[in-house]
Amino acid sequence: MDHNEPTRNLALELARVTEAAALAAGRFMGRGDKEGADAAAVNAMRLVLQTVGMNGIIVIGEGEKDNAPMLYNGENVGNGSPPDVDVAVDPIDGTRPLAFGRTNSLATVAIAPRGTMFNPGPFVYMNKLAVGPEAKGKINIEKSITENLQAIAKAKNKDVQDLTTIILDRPRHDAMIAEIRKVGARIRIIPDGDVAAALMTAWPDTGVDVLIGIGGTPEGVLAACALRAMGGEIQGKLYARDEDELRRGREAGYDFDKILTMDDLVASEDVFFAATGITDGELLKGVRYFGDGARTDSIVVRGLTGTVRQITATHRIDKLRQLGEIKY
Ligand code: FBP
Repeated sequence: MDHNEPTRNLALELARVTEAAALAAGRFMGRGDKEGADAAAVNAMRLVLQTVGMNGIIVIGEGEKDNAPMLYNGENVGNGSPPDVDVAVDPIDGTRPLAFGRTNSLATVAIAPRGTMFNPGPFVYMNKLAVGPEAKGKINIEKSITENLQAIAKAKNKDVQDLTTIILDRPRHDAMIAEIRKVGARIRIIPDGDVAAALMTAWPDTGVDVLIGIGGTPEGVLAACALRAMGGEIQGKLYARDEDELRRGREAGYDFDKILTMDDLVASEDVFFAATGITDGELLKGVRYFGDGARTDSIVVRGLTGTVRQITATHRIDKLRQLGEIKY
């Protein structure tokens, strides 16, 4: 991107993208229809993405072209004007919580200069360790959880017992949870949504100090874009579910032993990230509908400046319906 003149804050445009996805998906809260919610969010997100002033290629999307009619990996998005960028989308992070009326689902998008985002290919899981600015530079995913918690506690001038970890509720985390308990740190065990969880480590007053555990690789790249801009840090390591996945990964040139640093996950400061709450969460409120309108809460982050904006928007759904094809 050209820095000779004041650059646009593309994240402000991205907020419209995530707002549209959240407004469309929010209607599905609690209806038990994951596919319907996803289709609504994807459709809305794609329509607004096409208006954004960028020449984007989706690196992290809804999957391969054959299985995903829209927002597939490799699809061109944006209006085609500069800058050339990589795009990561997660129209709903937390499809299950949305479908079953639970907290912390959000719509999210990130962009970074072309060629700078990690492409996970089909390798969906990654071991993650994410912290906010105070513990940046102090973590090492190669070390034990105990050592990392001690380092984070020292960096934050706290007792380890006062740290709050956050981890997805999955059987694969039993040993990690046992180790955290042994060290004595507090644990928040969440059903879904580790993008929100990663952001919470860098967000004042959430009380969350560190995200630990294995979650989606795409979500890891999105979290890296946000944390890069928010001054935090995430480290990862690809995680193979079985020998076959490990073999396929190695054949495709992926190294499951390599630490994925922030630079590996997104190799530029020039990142933009936006997220809008779909259901209520600690970070963002969900969509509130009323009469002919709705209100959304978004977070918009720009890497070059580190500015984090919170945007509460009131939408006139009657007017939006007249203007476009999105089913709000
Ligand atoms: P989706 O809603 O996009 O499916 O992701 C929800 C989520 O909880 C992510 O936040 C997390 O990274 C991933 O699923 C974990 O995967 P799994 O549910 O397979 O353990």
